[in-house]
Amino acid sequence: MEFDLEQTDALLATTRAVRKRLDLDRPVPREIITECLELAVQAPTASNSQTWRWMVIDEEQRRAKIADLYRLAMKDRQSVTETWDDTKAEDRISAQTARVLDSAGYLRENIHRVPVFVIPCVEGRPAPDAAPASLSAIYGSIMPAVWSFQLALRSRGLGSVFTSVLGFRERDVAEFLGIPDNVMQVAMIPVAYTIGTDFKRAARPPVSEIIHWNEW
Ligand SMILES: Cc1cc2nc3c(=O)[nH]c(=O)nc-3n(C[C@H](O)[C@H](O)[C@H](O)COP(=O)(O)O)c2cc1C
Repeated sequence: MEFDLEQTDALLATTRAVRKRLDLDRPVPREIITECLELAVQAPTASNSQTWRWMVIDEEQRRAKIADLYRLAMKDRQSVTETWDDTKAEDRISAQTARVLDSAGYLRENIHRVPVFVIPCVEGRPAPDAAPASLSAIYGSIMPAVWSFQLALRSRGLGSVFTSVLGFRERDVAEFLGIPDNVMQVAMIPVAYTIGTDFKRAARPPVSEIIHWNEW
């Protein structure tokens, strides 16, 4: 089988974090979510553990509650990052970061209108003193599948954005949705059709600056 590299490279290079171009008025059929998850679970997992679980929320009232928790979680994160960094915000924000913050603010204001939320979960949690190998086994057993899911969405005209912030309210979300204690939520992915399908490559530093051949 030969791949069409123009197509596959474009998919890999232009799958962006979509917030402002999510179509908030167009419903997303459940079959699309299922089809993309069927592709997602082809991803690798540590020892073939496949401990993933996928929470999908498409009921309006439940989305409204999750949206409220998302907004509270953004406040939680703000108070944590303010204590992490005491330099003035204006001094450290680049133009690119400012665009991301503006876009994140748009999502915060409109998140209740996004038609589907997907919460990828994994069974088990890292111990407080977990070794890097354990951490990469746990998170690495879900992240590749999440990205495959996002790529599958994009190739079908839908957009998404990986968000981690809801994790600040993980307990509240678990209680509200009945998620068991041993199941860890790793993200919350708002999903919708996109307004237009043309997305650009991102500006990234050249690989030559970050690659180390044979010696650091
Ligand atoms: C681990 C991780 C956590 C993220 N958390 C959030 C989040 O909580 N809220 C949000 O709006 N975007 C979040 N993002 C999206 C990033 O802001 C986005 O991927 C980044 O700005 C680069 O944009 P691009 O994906 O279009 O290249 C997250 C992305 C990753 C990979």
